[in-house]
Amino acid sequence: MSTSEKVLFILESNKDIYISGEEMAGHCGVSRNAVWKAIKDLREKGYDIEAISNKGYRLAGSTDIISAEGIKACLPKDLSETDILVYESLNSTSDKAKELAMKGGNHGTVIVAVTQTGGRGRKDHTFYSPEGGLYMSIVLKPERLKRTDSKAVTSFVGEAVINAIKELTGIEPYIDGINDLYVEGKKICGILLESGSEFDSNTLQWIVAGIGINFDSDINKFPEDVKERASSLFETGKATITKNELIAKIIEKIVDCQL
Ligand code: BTN
Repeated sequence: MSTSEKVLFILESNKDIYISGEEMAGHCGVSRNAVWKAIKDLREKGYDIEAISNKGYRLAGSTDIISAEGIKACLPKDLSETDILVYESLNSTSDKAKELAMKGGNHGTVIVAVTQTGGRGRKDHTFYSPEGGLYMSIVLKPERLKRTDSKAVTSFVGEAVINAIKELTGIEPYIDGINDLYVEGKKICGILLESGSEFDSNTLQWIVAGIGINFDSDINKFPEDVKERASSLFETGKATITKNELIAKIIEKIVDCQL
């Protein structure tokens, strides 16, 4: 972990309090000057870090930048070793997750992207994936699942996302279609489950759960045909939780696989 990543993890884990440069330096095992450089580097990346002399640094509550450190700061301790990879842009998080699953990636490996250029839905539909959305794919290994039939896994993932949203926001989406989530008649989330098996032995080897949520996306900028049927969980700029918090809650609900 770089010093910037360590400092970011400390800031994301202590959102309500100021932490002194000295304390951070101690935690990171680096000089105060190195901490100061990390703060500068994070500010350049867009993090709004408040500083008060004699008190230290604090991440402004309005900051909503997706990062592996920000997600890990919201995860329970037993999931702190989860493999989480965050990209600015990917063709599709599920393509990346499938690639890793085929190479033996661990159960629970999570791929997140801020935007997708080739987001996919069921039946080869495109899933429009601009900034403001939340795009993630989780690798699931059959040996860690109690049931692997498609109906059970599909409804488990749908319910897990609903419960994560409900727990953090009070909003309760419902499932329509195979596994689309709706709020007041408009689609806010699409879920795509894909799997790979060994043909000879018909043995399931991996499942990838791809989840796309219109978080605080500006629906007015969506293509005309999608605009009519889609909505966002929050109006742009009015989210009451961060994307990192929701991603972490979804990971928590899915990786444990109590289906
Ligand atoms: C659908 O609406 O038919 C399902 C959409 C699934 C979209 C998610 S976004 C993250 C992951 N990556 C993809 O390319 N698709 C899924």
